[in-house]
Amino acid sequence: MTSSEPNTIADSRVILTHFMGMSDANILGNVHGGVIMKLVDEAGALAAMRHARSPVVTVAVDSMTFMEPILVGQLVTVRAELTYAGTSSMEVRAEVIAENPISGSKTHTNTAYLVYVAIDEEGRPHPVPKLKPTTPQESAAMLAAQERQEKRIKGRK
Ligand SMILES: CC(C)(COP(=O)(O)OP(=O)(O)OC[C@H]1O[C@@H](n2cnc3c(N)ncnc32)[C@H](O)[C@@H]1OP(=O)(O)O)[C@@H](O)C(=O)NCCC(=O)NCCS
Repeated sequence: MTSSEPNTIADSRVILTHFMGMSDANILGNVHGGVIMKLVDEAGALAAMRHARSPVVTVAVDSMTFMEPILVGQLVTVRAELTYAGTSSMEVRAEVIAENPISGSKTHTNTAYLVYVAIDEEGRPHPVPKLKPTTPQESAAMLAAQERQEKRIKGRK
């Protein structure tokens, strides 16, 4: 992939799965929020790197609300994909699913939006390929992402 050719959302998609062990949780067996945040950031950064084909840094993480507890013994899957590509910035949506591997029951625990910036060898922002929608749903998701990014930039000023 080169920076002149647009990429699709599917090109960036990353699925990370992690088994929640005792070291991930408190004594009651509830997984620490920070463990999930780290997984979300890892999956998000990989999706951004897949799009940019360069190193990236995290510049913003929107609020993260956990709607359901995640417990020791569950499999956590983070599905991350690009929703926006600016000049050097990229927004990634990361969805977190907790699964009981024995019963197969799955719970969507949270969705997070993160912004990454592609950087060059000197740590300066580096241009990324454009993002090409392939369905009307993807076009709508990209528009919503652009609006979120405009709000973040306004908030920064
Ligand atoms: C990312 C970094 C290189 C950007 O440098 P900068 O001088 O702010 O560069 P710019 O102002 O040109 O911003 C670069 C892009 O990031 C976007 N951006 C910067 N801050 C942002 C924020 N808070 N939210 C959303 N986007 C942001 C800009 O809009 C711009 O996007 P564009 O190129 O698509 O138009 C610099 O801020 C940095 O190194 N930050 C630390 C990152 C890091 O270490 N993260 C891990 C923390 S543990």
